[in-house]
Amino acid sequence: MTSVGHAETRGIGPSRLFACLRADLGVFCSQELMEHTLAILEHNYPSIEDLRRRAKRRIPHFAWEYLDSGTGEETALDRNRQTLDAITLKPRALRGKIAPVLETQFLGRDYSVPIGIAPIGATGMMWPGAEMDLARMAADKRVPYGLSTVATRTPDEIGPIAGEYGWFQLYPLGGDGVQEDILKRAQNAGYKTLVLTVDVPINSRRERQRRAGFNMPVKMTPSMILQMMLRPAWLMGIAKHGQPRFKLMEDYVDSRSVADVAKRLGPEMRPNPDWSVLDSLRANWDGQIILKGICNVEDAVQAQDVGIDAVWVSNHGGRQLDAAPGAITVLPHIREAVGPSYPLIYDSGVRSGLDVARALALGADFVMAGRAFIYGAGAFGPRGIELALKILSDDLANVMAQVGTNDLAGLRDAIK
Ligand code: FNR
Ligand code: LAC
Repeated sequence: MTSVGHAETRGIGPSRLFACLRADLGVFCSQELMEHTLAILEHNYPSIEDLRRRAKRRIPHFAWEYLDSGTGEETALDRNRQTLDAITLKPRALRGKIAPVLETQFLGRDYSVPIGIAPIGATGMMWPGAEMDLARMAADKRVPYGLSTVATRTPDEIGPIAGEYGWFQLYPLGGDGVQEDILKRAQNAGYKTLVLTVDVPINSRRERQRRAGFNMPVKMTPSMILQMMLRPAWLMGIAKHGQPRFKLMEDYVDSRSVADVAKRLGPEMRPNPDWSVLDSLRANWDGQIILKGICNVEDAVQAQDVGIDAVWVSNHGGRQLDAAPGAITVLPHIREAVGPSYPLIYDSGVRSGLDVARALALGADFVMAGRAFIYGAGAFGPRGIELALKILSDDLANVMAQVGTNDLAGLRDAIK
């Protein structure tokens, strides 16, 4: 229905160019003009893959490779796609009034759509200022935004912007009282939902990222400087927002150098935790706890048994174990094992509303996307983030209509 573009919204030639410019310089435009701009962009960049292609041209190569790559031969990255693509849904005919409702409740809160922004480390390196833009969009559109421990902004800065839509993501951290202090800061900044990421026992090798020169500890090379020079819009963003730093972690290592922080973030601050980590977490967190990075039935059941509020099924977007199963293939088994009402989140490989529908059909209550939103940020800044959410939401509503359901729960019948 929405694909019938006409010249005005399609934006031929100069009007498309001006729409791109307006998206970049959004601050100078009225709300009305911005909506018009988004409509033009929507017709010219109707898919996440369109945003990805544009982002690739605007993000320096090393940062792009960090964002876009998986680990090893990228088998897991590809497998996420293949397994999602293989899931068919049942089209239905003559189902009467079409009015899909995307509004949903999750862990006692209302969200406008069952879609949120997964935590992404070094976000501001991929697109300057992106953490603030993501937080603003999350609060405005009523979707959750998970701020990473290793983002370039602190929970103190982002918490008040994201408000009740902010989730704080934590990696288990060693060091004297570091974790306790971070949790206190996150709580003081208004965060009530904690996401503990448990699928990074050690850093993965990330061969493609290494080839691009993005190594830990990060070391600036002449080639990286050249890559930055070739990306003027990104450079302008850096001039405005400052050089990206791991701002939260640098408070605990007494250094502002990205290299120092990355070095200390290695073995020293990364303990190899077991399940007992949850005891100390509970003692220091007065709110909900989600376990992120579960990709097998046993761990999901254990999480449920020890009283975790929700499990986040994920293979980290194919960035950790190259032999990991397509996360979507594990989801229905986990749903079966934990019962019909235990809260489950899904991520990994989501690039469309159809993928969101697939995950909901296979047992997820909520679906997060990582790269999709950062492709949006790289393509068009704040407007691109909004566009990414619109693409995912509109497509989800469209798929619901195709399979004949007006409510999200009805998607479960589309798989049978
Ligand atoms: C991630 N992810 C991640 N997860 C987390 O818990 N903390 C983090 O700091 C990061 N950092 C990060 C950086 C980048 C560049 C990517 C692509 C991913 C994983 C992320 O939250 C999510 O699980 C995946 O991105 C989901 O896969 P898709 O949607 O990117 O395919
Ligand atoms: C990553 C880490 C930060 O995926 O989780 O790059």
